[in-house]
This record gives sequence, C-alpha cells and structure tokens, in this order.
Amino acid sequence: MNTAVASTNTAENLATAVTAAVDLLTRGEIVALPTETVYGLAADATRPDAVVKIFEAKERPFFDPLIVHLPDRDWLDRVADIPAESRATVEALIEKFWPGPLTLVLPRRALVPDLVTAGLDTVAVRLSAHPIFRAVIQSFGKPLAAPSANRFGRISPTAAAHVVSELSSRIPLVVDGGPTAHGLESTIVAVRGKAVRLLRSGPVTAEQFSIFNFQSPISASPRPEAPGQLASHYAPRTAMQIGTPGETVIAAKRAGLLAFRNATSNFDAVEVLSPTGDLREAAATLFAKLRRLDEAGLNLILAEPVPETGLGVAIMDRLRKAAHA
Ligand code: TXA
Ligand code: MG
Repeated sequence: MNTAVASTNTAENLATAVTAAVDLLTRGEIVALPTETVYGLAADATRPDAVVKIFEAKERPFFDPLIVHLPDRDWLDRVADIPAESRATVEALIEKFWPGPLTLVLPRRALVPDLVTAGLDTVAVRLSAHPIFRAVIQSFGKPLAAPSANRFGRISPTAAAHVVSELSSRIPLVVDGGPTAHGLESTIVAVRGKAVRLLRSGPVTAEQFSIFNFQSPISASPRPEAPGQLASHYAPRTAMQIGTPGETVIAAKRAGLLAFRNATSNFDAVEVLSPTGDLREAAATLFAKLRRLDEAGLNLILAEPVPETGLGVAIMDRLRKAAHA
C-alpha cells in the first residue's frame, strides 16, 4: 500500500485533504490525522471491520482499548451511559476542558463495539480541539476510534513525518497538520460517582483538577488501570536511562543526551528540551527530540530529569516508560 501525505497549507489543499480522509473513513479505511496532542490513527468507531485495521497497522494487542473521539458533545450520551450521580461532575469536566486534551472513561453504551473497548464495560471518550481533526470528524458525522499513530510501544508521533516513519505502506493517508501543540497524549481520567481518578497524566495537569474530588493513584501501580499503560512504552530502540549528566557514569561507546535546559559537551549528540526551562515547550518537543536521538546511531540515551510539577509529571511519566528496559 502506498502511503499518501496530504498537505493542508492552503485552503484548497485543506479541503482536498479533508475530503480524501472522509472518503477513506466512509469506505472503512484508516487515516492518520493531527490532533492537538499527538497524531491519531482513525477509523469509524462503530465498525469493527474498520477498527480491526488499526490494530493490524499498529501491531497493537487486542487487550488495549481505543479512545473514541466525538464529532460534538451531543454524541456523549450515545456512546456513554452516564450515571445520574456522575452527571454534574461530567458536565463540569466537559465545560472546563472540552474541546481539548482530556479523555473521560465512563460506562459504555452498546453502540461502541467490544473491539474498541477491549471488552471492558467502560469507554474512553474525547473531543479534540484540532481544527483539521474537527473538520474531518464533523464532515464524517460519526465517532472515530483513534489511538496514537505509532507502532505499539513506540514513541507517539507529533509530526506527519513521524507517522510516515512508523506506518508507511501500512496506511493509505496521513493528513499533515504540522507539529502538534501539546506533544503529549491526552490526560485520561475515570469518573466514578463524583470522584475523578487519574489514569494517565498529560497536558491537563493535577493542579487543574483542584475544584474536583480528584484522586491521583497512578504512581508505580504494577497493574495499571488504563490497560495500555504498561511500564514499558513510548520506547526508543536505543537503550535509555534517566540521570543527571556529570553525576551519571556512562559506560556506552556512543552516548546522547536529552537535556532539560543546558547542553553539556562530551556527548555524541545532544538535544535540549527547553533552554528557558519552560515545561510546555519541553512537552511539545519531547517526542521529536527523543526520536532524533533514537536515529543518531547511539548506544545509550541519557535523559535528564525535569522538575516534577505541573506538566513535568506527564513528561517524567513518559521518560520513565521510555527508559524501562
Ligand atoms: O491524546 C490522545 O489521547 C491520543 C490522540 C490521538 O487522541 N490518543 C491516544 O490513544 O493516546 P492511545 O490508544 O495511544 O492511548 C489510549 C489509552 C491507552 O492506554 C488505553 O489503554 C486507554 O487509553 N484506554 C482506552 N479505553 C480505556 C478504558 N475504557 N478504560 C481505561 N483505559 C482506557
Ligand atoms: Mg499510544
């Protein structure tokens, strides 16, 4: 299969790209689309014959459920069965964070096939704020199942070229929307009663849930609640270790450094996440820089820790999973 990359740099190209994406989705095919977090690999969420192609292209195990993206808020009650006691909490979360990088795990309705939820009685739902994603899904008019558009266990794509390097010849189309804004996958929370429980850290930080009954139990849980949150994830092919340059003994022949603020010499390759120490910039560029180091023919990548506050929590989560051997 030839993988086409559709540019969206002019109004005409954008319209052509959206039409091509919608045509493919209508025919039960899969398409890579930009979102504000990372690129997603989308299929008609109501069609198992389409969704199965996502699992095949990604080599994703069937126990790992997919996020269902909605065309608009009105779709929420068609895919989720929101208990009366959770209603006010769900409405408040949506009001504050949708459209945007927050995914809600809620009891499911039968419209969502088992393949999408991996047989769970819950469904993960999200409403993306990305204009291209919204244009496609609104024109398509139905929910789209879309995981990150990388092969299973690998680094999530934050640019169209990353999708091509992960999935070339496995998918018919990538819509190029430029680099993604947040650079990290959405924050995932489960709503149980009135409680909001963190399942995956992300662009919406713990501090932003202060008005909710918020529970953050994710630290070092051996059995993650989000089935895809395995200890090893987001992994480069190169061995990776977290440590401070100068304090860490490096035995590798060719070592690279993923620095937070300051580049240190005596590494064979260096990427700096944010010279000004801005965690938003660090998050937005993390996966692209990790990918570049992974392609530099190194024996080891040393990743410097970032301050673990705000967005730094999600960045350290991704670094730890990437470093897990
Ligand atoms: O930002 C994002 O969320 C991106 C964009 C494309 O929307 N998507 C994404 O999907 O990161 P994926 O499949 O790479 O990660 C989704 C995570 C997985 O860890 C999966 O196990 C979890 O969501 N998940 C999905 N449904 C779930 C459910 N019903 N209960 C708990 N976890 C669920
Ligand atoms: Mg993923």
